[in-house]
Amino acid sequence: ISDFPDLRKHNNCMASCLTPAIYAKLRDRLTPNNWTLDQCIQTGVDNPGHPFIKTVGCVAGDEESYEVFAELFDPVIKDRHNGYDPRTMTHPTDLDASKITNAMFDDKYVLSSRVRTGRSIRGLSLPPACSRAERREVERVVVTALAGLKGDLAGRYYSLGDMTDKEQQQLIDDHFLFDKPVSPLLTCAFMARDWPDARGIWHNNEKTFLIWVNEEDHTRVISMEKGGNMKRVFERFCNGLKQVEHLIQERGWEFMWNERLGYILTCPSNLGTGLRAGVHVRLPKLSQDPRFSKILDNLRLQKRGTGGVDTAATGDTFDISNNDRLGKSEVELVQMLVDGVNYLIECEKKLEKGQDIKVPSPIAQFRK
Ligand SMILES: *[C@@H]1O[C@H](CO)[C@@H](O)[C@H](O)[C@H]1NC(C)=O
Repeated sequence: ISDFPDLRKHNNCMASCLTPAIYAKLRDRLTPNNWTLDQCIQTGVDNPGHPFIKTVGCVAGDEESYEVFAELFDPVIKDRHNGYDPRTMTHPTDLDASKITNAMFDDKYVLSSRVRTGRSIRGLSLPPACSRAERREVERVVVTALAGLKGDLAGRYYSLGDMTDKEQQQLIDDHFLFDKPVSPLLTCAFMARDWPDARGIWHNNEKTFLIWVNEEDHTRVISMEKGGNMKRVFERFCNGLKQVEHLIQERGWEFMWNERLGYILTCPSNLGTGLRAGVHVRLPKLSQDPRFSKILDNLRLQKRGTGGVDTAATGDTFDISNNDRLGKSEVELVQMLVDGVNYLIECEKKLEKGQDIKVPSPIAQFRK
């Protein structure tokens, strides 16, 4: 077919999975919102990706994209989520924070703890595809619901378009603000349209529970605090999320979800739980050890730099988080992160005493 994109130099999941036959079959299909295959893959066509870092290369425009273009999305999901097969496997959800154990880290090592996810409002197009009216409707539905949060979770909404310079500076100082997407991955996925219309940030008065509206997803929900009390952070995350869902349902709306894909989000990489639980952890000795990366891989953890000004100079502090999103529940993923971080801290303590450490055996991706 003469429209098949040139993907010869590409390193992303979409390019690995899209064949001329699949393209021919799907290219004239439309979702109920008139979203097309070409619109799903444009970001991956325009961004060949990094030779060593495989990106995803496609986005959903609406909940139905994952069904209407399943011949592409299914293999992309399988590729990205280590073999999870959305046709035969089901995804568990578990937001019972009382099940988490050993989640109080030593503040000497763990500087901050954070859990985030995303949620989409069923019936409205996702950020790559939404009209201005739909985007404003997402904001209205979410902000109206959030006004119902009480007690520790009570807070207020800051619209990106309306905020004062002082409010903006405060949100920057708190590291809360998100910016207009300038990354080509997001702009080619049409997510920067109409910026900053209907975008904003809600946070509770204690600044420990935070919701981004209309960034890469309809909502991003974040629980965080300084120090190592991941137990409390996850409790607040689960409790807040359940209350937000309840408040949205009271108004006749619901989150996009199904049992094969879990919570539906814009990027296939976030399907399932959408959960990233992470800590900023100081590991001066272990991070110098040649086995550090292997240990993280085997624990199914991922490391990033913390990016903060205060930590950049020393280079011994990392943002460590769970690798997986789909096929395991929220509780399982947080417990994996907790067990993994405890293991890393144990290694650090051993190295401090001049003792040897072991590379743990690899953890399986999911129960079969
Ligand atoms: C989809 O496109 C058709 C044909 O142009 C149009 O009649 C219909 O209203 C569109 N649907 C939506 C949801 O925009």
